[in-house]
Amino acid sequence: MTDHYAVVGNPVAHSASPAIHAEFARQTGQDLDYVRLLAPRDGFKSAVLKFRDEGGKGVNVTLPFKHEAWNLVTVHGGDAQYARAVNTIDFRDGGIIGYNTDGIGLVTDLERNLKFPIRNKRVLLMGAGGATYGVVHPILNARPELLVVANRTPGKAVAVVAHFQKFAKLAPRGMSAQPYQQLGGSQFDLVINATSAGLSGEMPALPPGVFAAGALAYEMVYGQHTPFMKFAAAQGARTADGLGMLVEQAAEAFFIWRGVRPDTAPVIAMLKREA
Ligand code: ATR
Repeated sequence: MTDHYAVVGNPVAHSASPAIHAEFARQTGQDLDYVRLLAPRDGFKSAVLKFRDEGGKGVNVTLPFKHEAWNLVTVHGGDAQYARAVNTIDFRDGGIIGYNTDGIGLVTDLERNLKFPIRNKRVLLMGAGGATYGVVHPILNARPELLVVANRTPGKAVAVVAHFQKFAKLAPRGMSAQPYQQLGGSQFDLVINATSAGLSGEMPALPPGVFAAGALAYEMVYGQHTPFMKFAAAQGARTADGLGMLVEQAAEAFFIWRGVRPDTAPVIAMLKREA
């Protein structure tokens, strides 16, 4: 019997998740289908519960509903508790179990696909919204030397650091919040853009000179050569967009639902060819 899954968002028409999961299912021989579900801005909960009541096995959640999903689920699995956002829901055994696989997706893309181990690296994370909350704990778990969070509205970066304070000791030199203008003179091995600036053709007010020799600039937005990527490349940094993270977070969701791990490399290659 075919099992049913969906990605719920608004908008959702652009989502690559159906193509990714269809490819995972083909590759692993799993009998499932996966569709896009457009929920009204004020109708997330009823759309998800209707999908479940009609036999759906699970959903992915995308913007703007990840925090609402965190409130909806009855159990927080994995990193979801700390992330304050849920991107994967499993309706197993009558429950509504929520996970956040974005952070694992990012770390897997960095470490396995891009061969960039986070351990002992100086990491700068830009942004203090939902995307940032989703990745802080997995980044700290990968044992960077230090983690700095910078944001246009500095108080929100301070709030991120306070929220994750109990994990700060995972980084030998700890975690701190700094406004962009105070970053001049600091150098980082990994700079991650978790802001939404790239979507509007902008970039955070990052001073020049923050990229250490051999640094990687990671843009969570995918499919665009954003101003941040251009800025970083002009300063000699290696750049990557968030396509690998997208596929890896999907693979983690697929594993939660189906118990099998798809091979992500051919799917990343397929999406790159289509981009
Ligand atoms: P998401 O869930 O994608 O993180 P969000 O919660 O709206 O979305 O957060 C967007 C983040 O991008 C915020 O950190 C925002 O900075 P502010 O907190 O100061 O609003 C950041 N951001 C968006 N546009 C930006 C820009 N042009 N320059 C710098 N930061 C920007």
